[in-house]
Amino acid sequence: MSGNQDAVPVPEPRVARFEQLAFGMFIHWGLYSQLGQGEWIQRTRRIPKEEYARLQTTFRADTFDARAIARTARRAGMGYITLTARHHDGFSLYDTRGLNRFDAVHSPAGRDLVAEFVEACRAEGILPVLYHTTLDWSREEYASDFGAYLDYLYKSVELLCTHYGPIGGLWFDGNWDRPNDDWRLDELYGMIRRLQPEALIVNNTGLGHRGELGHPEIDSVTYEQGRPKPMNRAGMKKYVAAEMCETMNDHWGIGSRDFMYKSLPHLIESLCACRKAGANYLLNVGPTAGGSIPKMQEAMLELMGDWLELNGRAIYDGRPSAVEGEGGDFALEGKDGKLYLFIHRLKIRGDSNVTVNGGGAGEKRFTGLHRPVSSIRWLDSGDLLEFQHEPSSGELRVVATGFPYGVNLVVRIAEVE
Ligand code: GLC
Repeated sequence: MSGNQDAVPVPEPRVARFEQLAFGMFIHWGLYSQLGQGEWIQRTRRIPKEEYARLQTTFRADTFDARAIARTARRAGMGYITLTARHHDGFSLYDTRGLNRFDAVHSPAGRDLVAEFVEACRAEGILPVLYHTTLDWSREEYASDFGAYLDYLYKSVELLCTHYGPIGGLWFDGNWDRPNDDWRLDELYGMIRRLQPEALIVNNTGLGHRGELGHPEIDSVTYEQGRPKPMNRAGMKKYVAAEMCETMNDHWGIGSRDFMYKSLPHLIESLCACRKAGANYLLNVGPTAGGSIPKMQEAMLELMGDWLELNGRAIYDGRPSAVEGEGGDFALEGKDGKLYLFIHRLKIRGDSNVTVNGGGAGEKRFTGLHRPVSSIRWLDSGDLLEFQHEPSSGELRVVATGFPYGVNLVVRIAEVE
């Protein structure tokens, strides 16, 4: 057989669809949001279980408007949302239908918030993904009878697979808490494939094991708070996607006194860096106790949307390329033979009394481009750029102009035809 052992496998439709979405919203929201100190506060402050559980009696979800959140995501250029259906504290935003009473239905909210979420996403053309914890601080048997705990966990997941129509994916997190135990993953993943064949399966490998596959059914590897590396897929049994999730400040669940916000340039560069490696970018918001996105986060998302309106084509269509740039600059392959050059650190040109004149502009060198080039223009303005290109050596020198006065896009993208 001449079968090519080093071929890159073709992605399953669910994986190809996911990669094309490029940018998603992570939502960490639950009982802990009432304390405003992150989703781990029960653990880090050693709050007794009974005391923590009382947060259920004040959980109202009175400003949770799933439709508004889905609209915010769409406006931000995001194609999917991953919501914490159940986090480590064990509280479910969905109706556990008799499995326990520690859910939103048995709180003053009295609603199935996952149902609202899934419906709203569909109405707004957003793919709904459900985060589900695998470790659990609320269940005695997690420590005492792991087999019984897994039965409970898998019944919970089965509910999500059977009552909400087709979901985009299940995003698990917590196996890293018991790395040496048998989680019966074949059983869990087999059930999902059977009940939700279009759903992506993800299982966060955590901070210490970014980018690791873990199990052959996994559809996308995770990079928690760390920029992804390009994946060499040659010879892989199946095509696996990648995703980096990142917080806007230093917490996933709302931290009311966490002022350590990342800058908007950081977020734009993160999105670009993810795409450079062919990965998706899952940007987190931590809603308030009531369930609305904090203003600061909402504003950041809106600006990400503005940036994507100008540059989206390169982000959604762009795939890793053999063409290489220098410094932070890089290229992505687009559709129909197009190439996108991502150019960083340009400054504003104009009057030296108001701008740091022209810094960062000038010749940028790319290598590995052997096909002919007819034109290069900025994606945001359509302005043509001067260039020199030698197809035989593959060297391209393009004269990158700085931003016109009035504009600074952080990363500027040129389209090569
Ligand atoms: C970690 C944390 C968890 C958070 C997740 C997001 O696994 O335990 O709180 O939900 O990262 O990636």
